[in-house]
Amino acid sequence: MNTHLSSSAPSQLETDCLVVVVLDQSEKDQSKKEKPAVTVESSDAGVREAAKDVISSGEVTGKMFETTLLHRPAGLKAKRLLLVGGGKAKTFSAAELRKLAGAAVRTLKSKSIRSLAFVVPESAIPASQGLRAIVEGAFVGNFDPGYYKSDRNEKDQKIDAVTIVVPGNAQGAHGDTKALEGAMQAGRIVAESQNFTRDLVNEPSNRMTPTMMAERAKKMAAEVGLNCETYGADKIKQLKMGAFWGVAQGSDEPPALIVLRYDPVGAADKVHLGLVGKAVTFDTGGISIKPADGMEKMKYDMAGGATMIGVMRAIALLKPKVKVTAVICATENMPSGKAQKPGDVQIAMSGKSIEIINTDAEGRLVLADGLCYARQLGCTHLVDAATLTGAVVVALGYVNAGIFASDDQMYDRFANANKQAGEKMWRLPLDDEYKEAIKSNIADIVNSGGRWGGAISAAMFLKEFAEDTPWIHLDIAGTAWMEEAKPWIAKGPSGIALRSLVEFVKGWSS
Ligand code: BES
Ligand code: MN
Ligand code: ZN
Repeated sequence: MNTHLSSSAPSQLETDCLVVVVLDQSEKDQSKKEKPAVTVESSDAGVREAAKDVISSGEVTGKMFETTLLHRPAGLKAKRLLLVGGGKAKTFSAAELRKLAGAAVRTLKSKSIRSLAFVVPESAIPASQGLRAIVEGAFVGNFDPGYYKSDRNEKDQKIDAVTIVVPGNAQGAHGDTKALEGAMQAGRIVAESQNFTRDLVNEPSNRMTPTMMAERAKKMAAEVGLNCETYGADKIKQLKMGAFWGVAQGSDEPPALIVLRYDPVGAADKVHLGLVGKAVTFDTGGISIKPADGMEKMKYDMAGGATMIGVMRAIALLKPKVKVTAVICATENMPSGKAQKPGDVQIAMSGKSIEIINTDAEGRLVLADGLCYARQLGCTHLVDAATLTGAVVVALGYVNAGIFASDDQMYDRFANANKQAGEKMWRLPLDDEYKEAIKSNIADIVNSGGRWGGAISAAMFLKEFAEDTPWIHLDIAGTAWMEEAKPWIAKGPSGIALRSLVEFVKGWSS
């Protein structure tokens, strides 16, 4: 998708469709029967005039995601005018705007429209921030997961070009064209990286084996100028990654340890971020096998790893001055004559012994060694992302991802980045009392803390391997895959956490 910046008057723009946000200025909620006071988020008199009748008719309320399409709007050079509702003006922010851009793209592409011009709302949000949110939302909305439909070429409708219309003064008055171009470029890099991750996650397990994932990482790294090393079973055994290998040993498909390095000149020596990702390309549960119903979904159990690969892509292109290393542990979790069994004891790379209670608690095993390895490589701060537990879905549903943090300062930084990125996440606790759940009779710890507080005991297990290195764990089991389409995003892989992680990394730039 091409992106253009324009500071023309919206009414003078020739486009297939001009998109303008409308907001509800009323303070009370609808149930109070107060009439919505709808405003058009453009100072262009022509646009206001074109929207006037449909607004005064009461047909437009400004409700979030409400769309009104007008053809041949009088006085505009655009062929169509799309009014998109952004909800209450009071609560409107970049997060809503991002979703509106996605919704506009998804509405228009389904009508075979190929290009649009989105007017940056003038109130509420600074122009560069609004512009960036629109670019991000548009790319995310344009993603189509229907890869293997044989009529894809006819059915795959995409927007080819988006023009972002900034108010004339934002560009002219401050001579700030460069800053705006920069914001557009940054939004594009982040959103394309998010879609890169979604591409990986969308592939079924026969087309995204650990080896294939390593190849995709290598190819991407070569394109953006990152260092990428990939290793197989030999290296995993040589490093004494007994927890990772315990999972991998059950599969005929070789595992892959993927290491991506970003080490820019001018970065401070004392900070080295480590990004660790769970990449179980298919999780059958192993000998503790999962029920057949819904098992097909376990192809997305590599989303944490795919997220970290996508983050590294964005970082390589955005070039913040901070050292970052990503460690991705890719394997299948299969039952077989070689598979590990409940009751087995594995010795992790760190030397800790683990009693395997449930072979379906495999994500924490691969991450245990991934975290340990990242520490050995010198990482001073660790973040992991994983589709780790069904329990986090019980706790937070499909709305919020779970955040766990061993260090409040690091959490504050992450929460800040998360807010900027407009992704929903919620912190869960890591009190020492929860450690009880992972005590073992025979070894140092067990790999399954049972049913209650399952997302927390999984995080407590990981904490044993982050040790005293400040660490954040993101459990994205409920959010990495959209169970249903939303106005702004298709059903399928979401690419959640990537934008927060990119913001977080940028925050350390020296
Ligand atoms: N990959 C699953 C977690 C998962 C569940 C991801 C639902 C996406 C959607 C993980 O490996 C798993 O099986 N966890 C078990 C742990 C249990 C055996 C302690 C779970 O949550 O049931
Ligand atoms: Mn599992
Ligand atoms: Zn899993």
